[in-house]
Amino acid sequence: MSTVTEALQSRSSKRSYLPKPVPRDIQEKILQAAAMTPSGANMQPWVTYAVSDKDILKKVGDAIIEKMDTGVVHDQFIQYYPVNWTNPYKKRRIVTGAGLYKLMEVDRKDEATRLKMWQDNFRWFGAQTVFFVFTDKANIDGAEGVLIDCGAYMQSIMLLAREHGLDTCPQGSTTEFGKVVAKALDVPDNLALLYSVVIGYADDAKINTYQPARTSLEESVTFI
Ligand SMILES: Cc1cc2nc3c(=O)[nH]c(=O)nc-3n(C[C@H](O)[C@H](O)[C@H](O)COP(=O)(O)O)c2cc1C
Repeated sequence: MSTVTEALQSRSSKRSYLPKPVPRDIQEKILQAAAMTPSGANMQPWVTYAVSDKDILKKVGDAIIEKMDTGVVHDQFIQYYPVNWTNPYKKRRIVTGAGLYKLMEVDRKDEATRLKMWQDNFRWFGAQTVFFVFTDKANIDGAEGVLIDCGAYMQSIMLLAREHGLDTCPQGSTTEFGKVVAKALDVPDNLALLYSVVIGYADDAKINTYQPARTSLEESVTFI
């Protein structure tokens, strides 16, 4: 992987992995380089838990699924998705979801299979390593800037992963159960979960061929 363009173009969210943890030295290389991500006032507001312990990952996933089973739809520190979906974003979301279900031959009305596919998030798609990224609650008390910083940090991780032949899936699904994750991981009280990134060795499952299209520059950029 020699250029940033190649890393960007070869990255897509992978949702099926070989049961192989990412070696500790590679995790360290990725997180060391990702630490060079710029942040406002050089706050470096990310606090990362890099988890490869099978039992702990199972504990976190079980805790989320148990919470979902009680009918709770979120238990979170931050609201990731819009509360009121408007177009063109609503349409893009529908097209992206529909494309995945079509590829996997899942009927739109087959709620049980769709739920199972969503809960695969909490089985980490079979991957053995997950980075959980938190920030200090004080950083998001009346301000959102650190979300920009931590988003950039997420992208650094995902591109660096490509350099090491690894794939990733960013997860807002865990954001929605951030408080459950924080409790299961037993992190200090001052931390709020922002997101997680599944990282590992993607397998050749059909689901991993999905690459949703992007809008044209005409639609998203104004040159002046
Ligand atoms: C912040 C963020 C949160 C996401 N959360 C999830 C998630 O919880 N589960 C999932 O399967 N994909 C998740 N995705 C992946 C998006 O669906 C995906 O990036 C988008 O459809 C574009 O596809 P691509 O990443 O394959 O290019 C997330 C992406 C981002 C950037």
